[in-house]
Amino acid sequence: MKLQIIPLNGQNRRHKRQAIGLLVENPNMWPAAEIARAVINTLLAPNRVCLCAVDGNDNVVGIVGGLPDYDGFVWEMHPLVVKKTHQGHGIGRRLVRALEREAGARGALTIILGTDDMDSATSLSDVNLYDNTGGRIANMTCRKRHAYRFYKKCGYRAIGVIPDANGPGKPDILMGKRISKRRSQLATLTPVEGGKS
Ligand SMILES: CC(C)(COP(=O)(O)OP(=O)(O)OC[C@H]1O[C@@H](n2cnc3c(N)ncnc32)[C@H](O)[C@@H]1OP(=O)(O)O)[C@@H](O)C(=O)NCCC(=O)NCCS
Repeated sequence: MKLQIIPLNGQNRRHKRQAIGLLVENPNMWPAAEIARAVINTLLAPNRVCLCAVDGNDNVVGIVGGLPDYDGFVWEMHPLVVKKTHQGHGIGRRLVRALEREAGARGALTIILGTDDMDSATSLSDVNLYDNTGGRIANMTCRKRHAYRFYKKCGYRAIGVIPDANGPGKPDILMGKRISKRRSQLATLTPVEGGKS
């Protein structure tokens, strides 16, 4: 599939409309077009990143956003969406890599993200996350298809959890990845991990 990953140009109204449409395809996350538009406008502000995957017909078929935090050492990846008809062809993975490259070039050491468990897809749902928190995260398993597995394949690891983020027993799973090859003074830090696992 012919595909380019380029920055979303806010002046390109067609691309912008398509990017908003991609979010609206997921009403559980973005229930209204105004909310989706606000998300895209936020990403087009200075110091943020919004990359889109454009197919051979110049249609936006995926987007990824990046927001700097912690003086730019840590970037949050949000949102990440691939058009439903184009999922399963490696576009999500390419968008993640492109954001990692862009954030890394801007000084990021780490990328973080949150992936919600709204429908008991993982072992972190419907349990007391204040008990044995670290153990539960370390031994986390998926019961059904969940984006957690996608991110794990991209080299991300669970680094925390926000209990009840989406209602009782429905957590937000925090994941992270070190993207910088710059070595820390701490010998205990794990090496930078590759893309596929
Ligand atoms: C999650 C999402 C971005 C993945 O994009 P994609 O282009 O379909 O993913 P890719 O084709 O690059 O997949 C890479 C690998 O992850 C796997 N994968 C993708 N989505 C997965 C999921 N939901 N659950 C489990 N594995 C998944 C693929 O099978 C593939 O595995 P392989 O390399 O062993 O073949 C896409 O499904 C999507 O837009 N979902 C709706 C929005 C969403 O959930 N965003 C994330 C919110 S936190």
